[in-house]
Amino acid sequence: MRISERIRYVGMNDLKTQLFEHQWPLPYGVSYNSYLVIGDKIALIDTAAAAYEDIFLSNIKEEIGERKIDYLVVNHMEPDHSALQAVIRKEYPDCTIVTNAKAVPMIEGYQGLSDNIQIIKEGECLSLGNVTLQFFMIPMVHWPETMVTWCPEERTVFSGDAFGSFKAVPEGSLIDGFECFRDEMTRYYASIVGKYGQTVQAALKKVAPLNIERICPTHGPVWEKEISEVVGWYDRLSAAKLERGVCLAYGSMYGNTAKAAKSVAAELEKNRVVCKMHDLCEENLSFALADAFIYDSIILGSPTYNAGVFPPVQAFMDALKARGVKNRRFAAFGSFTWAGTSVKLLNNQAVEMQFEVAHNGLSFAQGYTPEKFDAEEIAKPFI
Ligand code: FEO
Repeated sequence: MRISERIRYVGMNDLKTQLFEHQWPLPYGVSYNSYLVIGDKIALIDTAAAAYEDIFLSNIKEEIGERKIDYLVVNHMEPDHSALQAVIRKEYPDCTIVTNAKAVPMIEGYQGLSDNIQIIKEGECLSLGNVTLQFFMIPMVHWPETMVTWCPEERTVFSGDAFGSFKAVPEGSLIDGFECFRDEMTRYYASIVGKYGQTVQAALKKVAPLNIERICPTHGPVWEKEISEVVGWYDRLSAAKLERGVCLAYGSMYGNTAKAAKSVAAELEKNRVVCKMHDLCEENLSFALADAFIYDSIILGSPTYNAGVFPPVQAFMDALKARGVKNRRFAAFGSFTWAGTSVKLLNNQAVEMQFEVAHNGLSFAQGYTPEKFDAEEIAKPFI
């Protein structure tokens, strides 16, 4: 697919994989984006996932026919982009791999390739004759070897996972679509990149002076007209510029904590507070995680289970912890049968995570009734 005369898309949609990284659901699929930069010489920017060898080679040949690939630029070594490096080397034996020193042992470790590798450093350029590639390191977005490739003649940055998104790209319509992709971009960011907000901020500052007119990420659309929206959204997520609202996540064994959650949500909504409710037993935690990256408050509902927090809720708390989520307003609630511990345990963890415990929490014995559980009281600090 043609992005410009010199830049072609040779990636593909994956509508078969159920779980990205065997963890994150893909209800709308995902794309693995790879690009050719065609000058006097030809560079391929990243590859694709292992299952797509035939489509990938066919896409490349459709664009360049019998011409050869001279360089394979490796921006990132996660196997959704690196799995076909050895295939490219086999098909184009003289192709030089161009990457930074941190990627070299990974290329050997994953792909068994160690020869004809050109190691580049920060800011170094590679000439393709009538077009240039320049390389900037963005370590820990989200692996240590990550870098971006800049093409000044096209004012295009090949950004790797940065500015990427879950969700397959529409056939024949690869450019822009921020509103359509924002939710899945947020879930991708929260799930995959979210731990590395500080390094994302450093990367944004590094590429800011480039006067970018096109972003070609490794997942999701190519960004042209909507660059400011996408960069602004990434800036908000990585700098934790939060919106007022509540991510209300809960787990429930027999429906009592669920009823309490619904009563809290109704109270918040009655008072026009944005409340995004997630049942952690029914949906993957990445959906709640995305809202936890957007809103300034988190309310968790958990029954007491084995004298502790109900495991699906603890898994969500652990996911927040693992990503360094902090500075949220917090409250917890939940049911118990003979001894309630979940609220106290969640509050303790919230304090460790630098959350502000806005309400000490409410627990109730056995079945839910509005008399036992005062939703108005627990919702009040969030209104
Ligand atoms: Fe899309 Fe970090 O790989």
